[in-house]
Amino acid sequence: MSEASSMPLIENKPAVPKEFNKIARRYDLATFLNQGYASDLRLSVERMGLQGDEKVLDLCCGTGKSTRPCLEALPKGHVIGVDFSEGMLEMAKANLSEKFGERVEFQLQDAMNLDFPEASFDAIFMAYGIRNMSDPEACLRQLYRLLKPGGQICFHEYSLADRWYARPYWLVLGYGFVVPFCTVLTGTSRIFRYLIKSVDRFLRPSAFLKALDAAGFVRTTAQPLRSWRAPILHTFRAYKPEA
Ligand SMILES: C[S@@+](CC[C@H](N)C(=O)[O-])C[C@H]1O[C@@H](n2cnc3c(N)ncnc32)[C@H](O)[C@@H]1O
Repeated sequence: MSEASSMPLIENKPAVPKEFNKIARRYDLATFLNQGYASDLRLSVERMGLQGDEKVLDLCCGTGKSTRPCLEALPKGHVIGVDFSEGMLEMAKANLSEKFGERVEFQLQDAMNLDFPEASFDAIFMAYGIRNMSDPEACLRQLYRLLKPGGQICFHEYSLADRWYARPYWLVLGYGFVVPFCTVLTGTSRIFRYLIKSVDRFLRPSAFLKALDAAGFVRTTAQPLRSWRAPILHTFRAYKPEA
């Protein structure tokens, strides 16, 4: 085992997509059994209030679970799904390419180093992605450049509410249920132990809003998701100012 591959993922985030390759074939089952996973993604996309004809980047699209609600909200639009895990993208293509035809395309790219011209997208959706970036602030600055003036960015992300109980709640839920359950389902625990740690270390909603402001975005908002996910999962929205 190389030194990099034995490093904890939390200290080696560029290795995260390779870890997703290992669970790609079980990812849809694990998220299907996660109550609210699909409806939460739909709600975040609904909150964007898309017109229906936009060009949208679904960054860190995985197996396409986040791409599907974008496509459903865009009957005349186009979605580019980007991920850096070949295995996850293979599943995304199998799940969506035939049904949505030319309205969707998938590209293998590193979200920290995207190859698109400036002002390429009307909107960007990033679900469970920004937390995995080695430098989230640099990623935000890059996404700002890729948005058209007036365009909207939306993050659907685990971010522990600015309340005393959110962290113990997440640690009990994570180590008591998510890690054991998902390990049995997928045969590996590494990516799920990383999930718990990366959420614990990620910015709280108030701090993430400040990071969005610092990157130049305006009209930034954070809204919790529903039910038992409310203390841990948020929709963040922001806009690039009109030119
Ligand atoms: C938890 S999954 C989320 C997938 C999908 N958005 C969803 O809602 O189900 C996180 C995804 O981020 C991808 N990812 C992590 N780091 C990345 C990077 N640097 N560039 C592109 N994709 C990355 C992983 O490969 C994985 O598919």
